[in-house]
Amino acid sequence: MFRHPLTPDATLRPLEPWQAAEFAAYVDRARPHLAPWLPWAETIVDESSARAWLQRYADRQADDSGRVYGIWVSDSLVGGTLFRVFDTQSGLCEVGVWLDPAVQGRGLVGRAVEHMVEWAFRERGMHRVEWRVVPTNTRSITAAKRLGMTRDGVLREVFPFHGTRHDIEVWSLLATEWRSPEAPPA
Ligand SMILES: CC(C)(COP(=O)(O)OP(=O)(O)OC[C@H]1O[C@@H](n2cnc3c(N)ncnc32)[C@H](O)[C@@H]1OP(=O)(O)O)[C@@H](O)C(=O)NCCC(=O)NCCS
Repeated sequence: MFRHPLTPDATLRPLEPWQAAEFAAYVDRARPHLAPWLPWAETIVDESSARAWLQRYADRQADDSGRVYGIWVSDSLVGGTLFRVFDTQSGLCEVGVWLDPAVQGRGLVGRAVEHMVEWAFRERGMHRVEWRVVPTNTRSITAAKRLGMTRDGVLREVFPFHGTRHDIEVWSLLATEWRSPEAPPA
C-alpha cells in the first residue's frame, strides 16, 4: 500500500472499507473533538456504519469523484483528510480534514493537504481547491490560511446542524496561486 511520509513517524495512506473496525474505534475516541464540526462523527457509531461511510468513498474513488485518507502516527490512526468533492469536469475539488487533539499543532494536516493539492493541481489538472468551514472553527480557518487560501465569501445559513442553520465560509486556492512546497528550489 502507498504511504506518503509526513514526518519521520507520521504517514498519509488511503483509508478503505477493510479498515472499518480501526476507523470506528478512532471515531469513538475522537468523537468529542470532531462532532462539533463534522456530521459523520455522530453517525459513525460502529464498524458497520464506518464500513458504509468508507464504502461510499471507495465508490467515489472508483468513479474519480472523491477520496479519503488516514493519518497514522507510529501505526496509530490519528486523523484524516478527504476530497469530499472531486469534479474533474469543472476542475473543482473540496478538501476536508480532522486530527486528534493530541497531535494538533504539528503541521500534520498542513503537510497532508499540501500533498493532496500538489496531486490535484499538478497531476490531475484541477483548477480550484475549496475549504468550507463554519466561521467559529478558528483552528480550521487558520489551517486554510496557512495553506495560502483566500476567503471567497460566506454562504449564509446554508448548513443545518445541531438544530441551527450555520453560515459556511468558503476558502479557496487556485492552481495559478499554488507554490509547490514539493518542487525543487529554483
Ligand atoms: C482543523 C484541524 C485539523 C487543524 O489541526 P492543526 O494541527 O492546527 O493543523 P495544521 O496541520 O495546519 O498544523 C498547524 C499547527 O502545527 C504547527 N506546526 C508545527 N510544525 C509545522 C510545520 N512544519 N508546518 C506547519 N505547521 C506546523 C503550527 O505552528 C500550528 O500550530 P499552532 O496552531 O498551535 O500554532 C484540527 O483542529 C481538528 O481536527 N479540528 C476538529 C475537526 C475540524 O474542525 N475539521 C475541519 C472542519 S472544517
